[in-house]
Amino acid sequence: MRIVILASEGAPYVKSGGLGDVMEALPAALARIPGNEVTLILPYYKKIKDNPAYPVERVLEYSVQLGWRDQYAALMRLTNRTDGVDVYFVDNEYYFGARPGAIYGDLDDGERYAFFSRACLNALSILDYIPDIIQCNDWQTALVPTYLKAMYHERFAGTRCMYTIHNIEYQGWANAGFFDDVLGLPWEYRGCLDMNGSVNMMKGAIETADMVTTVSETYSRELMYPYYAHGLDGIIANASWKLTGITNGIDVNTFNPETDPNLPAHFNADTFVEGKRLCKAALQEEVGLPVNPDTPLMVMVTRLAGHKGLDLLCYIARRLLWEEDCQMLILGTGEPQFESFFLQLQEEFPDQVSAKITFNLGLAARIYAGGDVYLMPSKSEPCGLSQMNAMRYGTVPVVHATGGLRDTVPPADENGEGGLGFTFQSYNGDDFLASLKRCLHLYHNDREGFHRLQHRDMCQDFSWDAPAGRYMELFHQMLGA
Ligand code: GLC
Repeated sequence: MRIVILASEGAPYVKSGGLGDVMEALPAALARIPGNEVTLILPYYKKIKDNPAYPVERVLEYSVQLGWRDQYAALMRLTNRTDGVDVYFVDNEYYFGARPGAIYGDLDDGERYAFFSRACLNALSILDYIPDIIQCNDWQTALVPTYLKAMYHERFAGTRCMYTIHNIEYQGWANAGFFDDVLGLPWEYRGCLDMNGSVNMMKGAIETADMVTTVSETYSRELMYPYYAHGLDGIIANASWKLTGITNGIDVNTFNPETDPNLPAHFNADTFVEGKRLCKAALQEEVGLPVNPDTPLMVMVTRLAGHKGLDLLCYIARRLLWEEDCQMLILGTGEPQFESFFLQLQEEFPDQVSAKITFNLGLAARIYAGGDVYLMPSKSEPCGLSQMNAMRYGTVPVVHATGGLRDTVPPADENGEGGLGFTFQSYNGDDFLASLKRCLHLYHNDREGFHRLQHRDMCQDFSWDAPAGRYMELFHQMLGA
């Protein structure tokens, strides 16, 4: 099967969050399935262009029409990818190549990604490369299914399009004028992109894609409710007949405590007690906490953003630190009020708290390996990847039972039996505190039971094999095969 995947980010080339991880591992997992031909297309950002590790050749120069604009584009092929995925970049100096700094956040982001979406379809059309499936992701490539239906239906008559929502919060809103000025779509598509008098690109994708997926089963159901859907609950409900949730995997080769080059000691599900003891001592030392093997170390690697549940953690933090023998370690950057809260907490509780307000992949790996308990009280979480990283490294998750957290962390009882971590149901600080206390109680009073829980976490299969198989089932279904 010929599969083309379009996205605004993909590790290792460019990544701002979980979407980047998925766009590294999912194409590779699909390419491992015999008979598949997998292509990934990303924008040619400055940071990719400037990186000598990514040699390219130019395969095509062409133009892209955006409303009245006629823009230059070039398709660059990466020449050193070795896992069977063909990677291409769309080059345009003005939209991507000459912009320093973060990949998102420019005032013309709408136009930039409209350009990218059209440029991908134009390139495929000019090269006469007709895919069976086009899979696109989040608001940045949300125009693809609409363009496909409106302007390329003859050229790509046999192609089916899947649209995947990784986070419904960012929908690609633009003012009404954007429709004529930039998109240049036929009038009959105005209604499908319109929401409250503005353009909403994600809405258009949900309506025009042949199939819509989200990144966990629970999230696919939550999206029917206003609390989670950021205004799109009605649109999602109308499309529920073509909506499926597929829980992400993680890259189990990169995230492997037996081989991870960032770790001071290596371990597996049989040797983790000793391995994690070494990693924990080294970590406590590295982050300036007292080196104590019997004090439970609670850790968090996260963007410091509101929906990650940090308000709950702020609310209970002092009570927790006063009442419990425990240490807390936070790694991440983000909203200033959270950055200063954790720095302040570190000052107040120097023997219990360490706040590392930075982005550091090596330290993140050492935290997954050296921690005892992983905190993830997200208010909503489409899938979440770090709880799976944590479990793979034997760190017990305490999570809010929402979205992918609910699907990947079935609740254990107070003896640590029957599940993979500790969960709380309603988004509430006291419930979070109670579940954390259950976890710490098990750690302090039944270390054997805690180890059994860690062992179960480490034995889970979080690889992409099963999810990739689910994507294939849906692709076959879309093609009527
Ligand atoms: C987004 C979601 C996250 C998900 C990731 C990959 O970042 O917020 O929950 O794991 O996409 O699908």
